[in-house]
Amino acid sequence: NAAEKGGYEHFMLKEMYEQPKTVRDTLSPRIKDGKIEIEELGMTDEEIRAINRIHIVACGSAYHTGVTAKYVFEGMARIPVEVDLASEFRYRNPILDENDLVIIISQSGETADSLAALREAKSQEIKTLGIVNVIGSSIAREADKVMYTWAGPEIAVATTKAYSAQLIAQYLLAIKFAAARGRITDQEVEEYLGDLKKLPDQIELLLSNQTKIQKFANRYIAAKDVFFIGRGIDYAISMEGSLKLKEISYVHSEAYAAGELKHGTISLIEDGTLVVAVATQEDLYKKTVSNMVEVKTRGAFVMAVTNEGNIDIEKAADYVIYIPLTNKYFTNSLAIIPLQLFGYYVSVGKGCDVDKPRNLAKSVTVE
Ligand code: G6P
Repeated sequence: NAAEKGGYEHFMLKEMYEQPKTVRDTLSPRIKDGKIEIEELGMTDEEIRAINRIHIVACGSAYHTGVTAKYVFEGMARIPVEVDLASEFRYRNPILDENDLVIIISQSGETADSLAALREAKSQEIKTLGIVNVIGSSIAREADKVMYTWAGPEIAVATTKAYSAQLIAQYLLAIKFAAARGRITDQEVEEYLGDLKKLPDQIELLLSNQTKIQKFANRYIAAKDVFFIGRGIDYAISMEGSLKLKEISYVHSEAYAAGELKHGTISLIEDGTLVVAVATQEDLYKKTVSNMVEVKTRGAFVMAVTNEGNIDIEKAADYVIYIPLTNKYFTNSLAIIPLQLFGYYVSVGKGCDVDKPRNLAKSVTVE
């Protein structure tokens, strides 16, 4: 009812607006005197140094946070990471080593495939860590260790605030692991934490742009296909942006690694096709811009999401959304906000059931 939605038209909108708080709540209990303390991890620095490989296993949006975290763990801590969809992991007889760490990510803590993946890892006596939102849920109870995302109850089927909290939990782990393994200095830790602490206000700022995105979204309620492209972390952001749009608005959308376009997808570009290009990774910026030019030349309408200051992108894009500056590892937390709003407003514009899209369930407890 209206009271539960706190004055918002939908739970999804309310939950998007809760993201600054969610991020703050997931961060602050784990930062003490300028250091990261994740007591619930129960691992000494020596044990962290002994980690051989990390396996991140999840479904849906939680999986997308894992795809992002792979870049962060590998980039910062130089620990090899494999990311698996839980439904694949459980049946592929995964090769696990006793020094591996299996991280299961789940908002509900009840997703059948994620729970089965956890049990598979445990049956091989591998250390497991759950990143879970629902306290006392099955995954929270069965994982060796649990790190809670303090997002509070999430009602809308399409996740927003739990997704944002899952990202934060993994950034914290990555920084902690990188420091314990001597990959980053105390000063770098301080800088990363400084950037993380700025995220809530930056998210707030992006949310305040909603009218602009709503206007843009209204032009696309009749779209048949939308493509999301990006490289590296921007590819992971594209996957989530694409899922948000399709699951609630029923507009067909796909995410592609921008460099893969020319191996097939580019043949689908027609006059007016919307291509959303995410370009927050400065080292890959030029490459993505050249892909934008490729699709624009073939008639695409290009909407770019990039960092503040990259105004030259306006030559290659028809519409640009700028995100405030942050560390390259954390851009997902900002770039996803306009993409969530875009999916939301296309859905609202089409008159879809935003909070309860057809055929979908909030928590998939059957295989
Ligand atoms: C469902 C939800 C998604 C969610 C996925 C994984 O499909 O609709 O929003 O990402 O399950 O759920 P979990 O609770 O394990 O994070």
